[in-house]
Parts: sequence; structure tokens; C-alpha cells
Amino acid sequence: VSLKNFNSFGIEASAKYFAEISHEEELTELFMDPQWKDMPRLVMGGGSNMLLLNDYDGLVIRMNIRGIEHRISHNDVFVEAGAGEVWNDLVQYAVTHGYAGLENLSLIPGSVGASPIQNIGAYGVELKDVFESCRAFEIATSTFKTFSKDDCGFGYRESVFKTELKGQYIIVSVKFHLSLTPSLKLSYGAIGQELANRGISQPTIKDVSQVVSHIRVSKLPDPSTIGNAGSFFKNPVITAEQFATVQQNFPDVVNYPAGDGMVKLAAGWLIEQCGWKGKTVGSAGTWHNQALVLVNHGGATGTEIYALSSQIIDSVYTKFGVLLEREVNVIV
Ligand code: EPU
Repeated sequence: VSLKNFNSFGIEASAKYFAEISHEEELTELFMDPQWKDMPRLVMGGGSNMLLLNDYDGLVIRMNIRGIEHRISHNDVFVEAGAGEVWNDLVQYAVTHGYAGLENLSLIPGSVGASPIQNIGAYGVELKDVFESCRAFEIATSTFKTFSKDDCGFGYRESVFKTELKGQYIIVSVKFHLSLTPSLKLSYGAIGQELANRGISQPTIKDVSQVVSHIRVSKLPDPSTIGNAGSFFKNPVITAEQFATVQQNFPDVVNYPAGDGMVKLAAGWLIEQCGWKGKTVGSAGTWHNQALVLVNHGGATGTEIYALSSQIIDSVYTKFGVLLEREVNVIV
């Protein structure tokens, strides 16, 4: 089965075996057959945060469980969505109904089921701020388990599903804790500026959603026309000591406090300073408006994009002494 249309980088790669799951019981049925339990497997949602290096010599499971349900209690709204729902469809559902909390996360590519795995975030909000719980299938025991927020160990683009529990669970639905009374997060520079440009002084969640969508569209390439997986690297978090050294040599270095005396640097800035912004190597490149986004200009292989990412890591390390870490899932 070709995976080209299932990964947002648009990499041509195939899967040896492929299963699409539309109901959670299908997972129980699938894993009753021991051959699938022992085989390498790759669970896919929107395929918007992965780089396929080769054809996949195992079982690809595409999650397509749909459905959105809500329950209102006073000002609290609990919305539960199937893993296969498109993330932005859920955001638009919430915005349309006046359920506040997801608006800053508008237009993030990918699926609901993938959202807790890397604790998606944008424009001052992270998934963990609105996460209530998720339901997941445990492969070893073929049972379903509910994970509370604490169980998930969320951090910056991190959760237990990427670390100690990696590969052990398949998320089937996610429950969000939203509200009928918005507490808007407008601190991220570009949002306030764009609202002001539009002459909006009392924004609604719909305004925020529209402004965030506008900013994203103007900065980030649309994966349906130019293959990409959003930010390819994480913004590096370094110690105050390391930061002092970097800042001494590069006084303009873009940085944000990251708590516990740590400092987060803008990887896009570091990459741009190394001369990579808008550069193309073969069919791979970095986006002209956002150097942190690697793109497939058409026909690039996963290996080609990976090689470019290694070159970028090397040059940032040589210039700044800072090691970039890949944010996308590299599938070998
Ligand atoms: N910058 C540059 N050159 C560039 C890009 C960025 O100098 O080419 C500097 C600018 O100073 C800019 C700053 O970096 O102000 C921050 O850039 P931006 O606002 O675009 O955000 P980011 O830190 O590059 C992060 C997330 C994005 C998220 C945005 C907005 C990560 C790895 N990325 O990017 O998430 O949309 O903030 O909140 O944390 C993703 O994870 O795939 C993703 C797109």
C-alpha cells in the first residue's frame, strides 16, 4: 500500500501490511492474531509529524475512529473526540459552538489521536492546558485504559507516549476540558498585533481562531501543496550558563524564559543565521518564511530530507554550540 497520501511530507513509500481502524473493537480483533503483535508496527493519524526513510517493512495502522460528543456542566464543557477526527475540524466544532480553549490551536495539521503524543502547542497554548483524559488500547493485554493528565507526563512536545510507554498503547479517543467563559490567551506577539490591525479590541474565540489561522497560513507552507511536517526541530532549551556564552557571542539571539532557570532559543532563528533559510538542496529545502520548517519541493526522498536536517544540525552546532533535536518522528 502506498503511504504517499498518508504522510504530509508526501514521501513516496509503501507499507507491507496496512490496516484501517474505524471502531475500537477492531483493535481487539486485529491483535487476536499473534502475527501482528510481534511485527513492527506504525500507528498513523494524519501523518503530519513523521518522516518516512524507507518502505515500511511491517504493519501500518491508520486510525480513523470518528465522532465528537460533548457534555456541559455549568461553565465546563467536556468534549470527547475519536482519534481519527481531523484536529482542525475539532477546533472549528468547538469555536462554532462557543466552547473556549482550543482557538489558539487552530489549523494545526494532524489528528486528534496524535495530539497528546507530542503535546501539540502553538501561540501560547499547549494541549495539556485543555486536556482532560484519553482512552488507549494496551497492545500487550488487549485492554483499554484511561490516562489522566498526570498519567501522561506532558512536557514541551513530550509525553509518556513518546518515552517510557512508546509503542505500547494506541490512543482511541481524547477528552478535552473546555469552557463557556473564554479566558483568551493573546500574549503571543503576533496575535495582539493582528487583532489590532483588524481593529478588534474585544475579541471572541472566533476572532482568535481566525487570526491564528491567518498567521499560520502566511508563515507556514500548506502541506497539501508543499510537503512538510511543520517544525522539523524542537526549540532547544539550554541552561542559563550555556545561554550566557551564546549571548556573549550573539547578542541578538532570540530567547524565551523556559522555567527553572532554563532558556529556550528560537531554532528558526539559529537556522536562519546559518544561512539556511529558503535554501534548496536537490528536492529538499527550508521554507522561505520559516527556516524551522523543512519542505519537499516535489519528489524528495525521506533520506534526502533527513540528510539536509543533519547538515543543519551540524552547522547550528558549529556556529552556536547548540544541539538541535528533531521534533518529527523519523521512521526507519
Ligand atoms: N525566527 C527567525 N527565523 C525564522 C523563523 C523564526 O528568526 O526563519 C525567529 C523569530 O524571531 C520569531 C521566532 O523565531 O519571532 C519564533 O518563530 P515562530 O513564532 O514562527 O515560532 P517557532 O518558535 O519557530 C513554535 C512551534 C510551532 C508553533 C509556533 C507558534 C516548536 C518546535 N514550534 O515555532 O509549532 O506553531 O511556535 O506558536 O515549538 C510545530 O510544532 O510543528 C509547529 C509548527
